[in-house]
Amino acid sequence: MPTVVDRGLEGVVVGSTQLSNVEGGIGRLTYRGYDIDDLAPNATFEEVVHLLLYGHLPNRSELETLKRELGSRRSLPEPLVAAMQNVPKTAWPMDVLRTIVSGLSLFSPVNAHGEHLSDVHTAIELIAKMPTIVAAWDRIRRGLEPIAPRADLSQAGNFLYMRSGKVPHEIEEDALDTYFVLLADHSYNASTFAARVAASTRSDVYASVTAALATLQGDLHGGAASASYHTLTEVRTPERAEQYVRDALDRRERIMGMGHREYKVRDPRARHLEAMARKLSQHVGNSRWYDTAHALEEASRKVLQEKKPDNTIYANVDFYTAPVLADLDVPGDEFTCLFACGRIAGWTGHILEQLADNRLIRPQATYEGPQTGPFVPIEKRAANGVRSA
Ligand code: COA
Repeated sequence: MPTVVDRGLEGVVVGSTQLSNVEGGIGRLTYRGYDIDDLAPNATFEEVVHLLLYGHLPNRSELETLKRELGSRRSLPEPLVAAMQNVPKTAWPMDVLRTIVSGLSLFSPVNAHGEHLSDVHTAIELIAKMPTIVAAWDRIRRGLEPIAPRADLSQAGNFLYMRSGKVPHEIEEDALDTYFVLLADHSYNASTFAARVAASTRSDVYASVTAALATLQGDLHGGAASASYHTLTEVRTPERAEQYVRDALDRRERIMGMGHREYKVRDPRARHLEAMARKLSQHVGNSRWYDTAHALEEASRKVLQEKKPDNTIYANVDFYTAPVLADLDVPGDEFTCLFACGRIAGWTGHILEQLADNRLIRPQATYEGPQTGPFVPIEKRAANGVRSA
């Protein structure tokens, strides 16, 4: 008889990893033993990619090698750019990203069994290309030509360059780079678990990342990034925050960007993103997004506390993503794509970890359907198809 676990696998340990550790009770996140409180201000996304994929922080020459490889793999196959030019301009950015990432596999050689190589270089290829897809679609849907990637810029700097055609200010590049660092990995979150399940069937990196993208897009996961921006646009001003929260909770809606399955304190990533949002608001000379987000967090805490004095709902990573990306001029419906451009480092790291010591992931379920009974021929079935007792 299988053991019945809590719905949503809450509290269930389904595997192990050396990539990252989420300590929800104390609000700590570490990548291979390095606290994100140290990584966010001191390491670049490229260094974190190296840490996750190769197991250690790079020395200078290793970092230069990785940057060269990333830079050289950013361009997309021309037919995929043409495909993007031929889809409706109203297509949702996450649908485009998921489809084109899957499409990349068509341009990668397969072996006799139809499998693609699933090695660290394929991982780097996907990390390199994902921002190119997001930026290309951003321009194509605005009726503009995509801008070719530059090999000499960082992942963050190059993304902002490909959107606007301008090399970004250091503060802007740094903000997006820090965002990518903070989003790079988060243990067995839903999309990473989906990637590992796909990989465990001996599917390849492209297919596993496609599964991860599909799982990320719902608004209980990465879709919350775009949803929390939508909330900010509805709240509009800090003064309206408390009323907005009261009305939303009365309608039994959730405040997007608040709450987390693992963290019972404030998500440690929120602190860095809040600081980044404040800094960016000063840089752009308009604190509207930051002030509104801050007021919304305060109001949510206050009203949720009133309703449930022992509640543990705090801001999560998606909450201050909204003012950071809005101040970088990224449209709200692209936020989840940017989440993916950071999390791809963790996804690919987990896929390679899974494949290195693989066992098919295949859980059980309890059956709660009808008792086993005789087959009913079609002419004897009731009008509504229900089997008579
Ligand atoms: N706003 C208001 N209430 C919330 C809430 C939120 N953002 N998040 C959780 N709650 C409440 C639920 O309504 C529920 O209340 P109830 O016990 O009275 O029914 C309780 O807290 C527990 O919620 P539950 O959905 O069981 O917890 P979970 O562990 O499954 O939820 C999330 C985790 C992330 C899905 C949830 O907090 C959420 O939906 N947040 C908003 C979406 C979001 O920001 N997702 C990104 C996560 S990084």
